[in-house]
Parts: sequence; C-alpha cells; structure tokens
Amino acid sequence: MDQTQLISEINQLRKDKHAIIMAHYYQPEAVQQIADFIGDSLALAQQARKTDAEIIVLCGVHFMGETAKIICPDKKVLIPDMAAGCSLADSCKAEDLRKFKAEHPGYKVISYVNTSAEVKALTDICVTSSNAEKIIRMLPKDEKIIFGPDYNLGSYINKVTGREMLLWNGACHVHEKFSVEALIQLKKTHPEAKVLAHPECKGSLLVLADVVGSTQALLNYAIQSDAKEYIVATEAGILFEMQKACPDKTFIPLPPETTEGVGCSCNECNYMRLSSLEKIYNVLKNETNEIFVDKEIASQALGCIDRMLEMSK
Ligand code: 13P
Ligand code: SF4
Repeated sequence: MDQTQLISEINQLRKDKHAIIMAHYYQPEAVQQIADFIGDSLALAQQARKTDAEIIVLCGVHFMGETAKIICPDKKVLIPDMAAGCSLADSCKAEDLRKFKAEHPGYKVISYVNTSAEVKALTDICVTSSNAEKIIRMLPKDEKIIFGPDYNLGSYINKVTGREMLLWNGACHVHEKFSVEALIQLKKTHPEAKVLAHPECKGSLLVLADVVGSTQALLNYAIQSDAKEYIVATEAGILFEMQKACPDKTFIPLPPETTEGVGCSCNECNYMRLSSLEKIYNVLKNETNEIFVDKEIASQALGCIDRMLEMSK
C-alpha cells in the first residue's frame, strides 16, 4: 500500500471503530500529520480523560499507553509498537523504589509521568514537565519529598524552588546527551538565537538556556516570541510542530555530544521513532498491541494521576 492508500485506510478504520489517534510531539512527522490530537505528556493524559472514543491509539511510548489505560480502564488502548520503551522509566524499578520508600518513612513520593504503572502505584502525586514545578510549589514548604526518576528535572526544581527533595538518579538517554560544547559554538554563530531546553537536559546545559520547559511550553514560547532563531535542546520531533506553527522562524536542533547509546545518529528517541503509519494501520485493523494493566495496580496508580490532573487545573 502506498502512503495515500494507507492514510485513507486508517481514516476509514478510525471512523468505523470510533477510534482516536493521539500522538506525542516526539513522534515521526508522518504520524503527527495524521493524528487527531498532538500534545505533550500532560495534554495526552488530559485528552485521554476527555475523549469519548472507544479505542485510543496512543502514538508514543509504553508508559503513555499505560497512563491512558489507567485513566480509561474501559477503553481499548493500543500502541503502534510494544517495544517502545523509555530509558527514563526503566531507570526506576518498582522494587527499588519500594525499598527506598521504606528507608525514608514520612516522605511523599512525587514521580514523573515517565514511569511504569507499578511505580505510579507507589507514588503520591504524578507530575509531568509541564506541571512539576507548579505542583511542588503547591506542597507545604516543609514537606519531605522523594522525587524521581529524572535527576535533571528534580535538581532543576530544587534550584528554582529552593527545596531539598531527595532525587532518584535516573535520566533520559536522549536529553542527557545533548552537547554543551555544541551549544556554546552555536550561540557564537547565532548570537540572536533563543535557547529552548527541556528540563530533562543536564544542569550544565540548562544554565545556558533562555527558556526551560516542557515540549508544549517550548512550542508556546516559540510562537509568542519575536525572536527569529531558536536552538532547540529536546527531541527533534518537536521541530515539526514548531516549524508548522512558525514557518518564518528558524529552528536549529542541538546535536548530542555522542551518538553512542542514543540509538540513532541524531537527537531522536529511538523508542519514539518505532511508530509508523503501517503499524498504526495494523493495530487499528487487528486491534493488536493492546495495553493491559493489572486492575489492583491500576486502581492504586490512578490516585497519583488524578491528584496531578486536579492540581494542574
Ligand atoms: P513532555 O513532558 O514535554 O511531554 O516530555 C516528556 C518526555 O520526555 C516524553 O518522552
Ligand atoms: Fe523516554 Fe527520553 Fe524517549 Fe522521552 S525521549 S520517551 S524520556 S527515552
């Protein structure tokens, strides 16, 4: 099937099956182009709560599918590729967090959405990069907090809020590899460019950024700002939406310091890039790659997601 046929089959299937296709900003361009809804992690969770579709095809990674399933236990949630994991979510195993919690009684556990359902079940409040700072600021100043799994996001929030949260030592293999050297060089050759960085980047890079925020916040800034050039330190998929929203502006993707372990020769997440139109067509047609979450785990995990959605209003 060629691309045009594939898209028309997908359109027919989503209509017949009352399905919605939701995609994260890091998804391949072709996937973003056909999605009914594109958003950051928070927007995807909010949209999952709102939708009346019977099937959700979540074009992102596994934890995003799980989050949608926990929010919508009665809907069928499908993901294009079951191998779409996340190095950050993998850096925090539930058994390790359980042990760490037991060693730190009296601490609230705040977990980034990039976690497994089992980790969410051990979490008091879930956060995303869109709302983490806001939610932490809403908690009493003397609240004892374990924050995980992203060390860079946690230390950025500690810095801007003056908190001393205990930090899990996890990281995203794409964001922690952005090159500070390359950024310094690019700032010299593009002195007027604004630097947009995701808080999963390391602290030595964030200090050089003009704006630190979630993919949605970085996109909003690019739309509203008068600057003509931007150096973008996050997964390169966001450039598609940035360029679409701002055709007259220039977006320069920051390269990684090394391509080792990144999974591809650029600043792309190899897990996010597993999605394709063919795979979307196949899962919609055959209703395969369905996400299941153990009922008890899901009901425990829902608490921290509900608290997040409530506190983000
Ligand atoms: P957002 O919170 O900006 O969606 O980014 C999280 C992320 O890393 C998704 O993989
Ligand atoms: Fe996980 Fe990083 Fe890929 Fe996001 S970009 S899905 S945090 S590995």
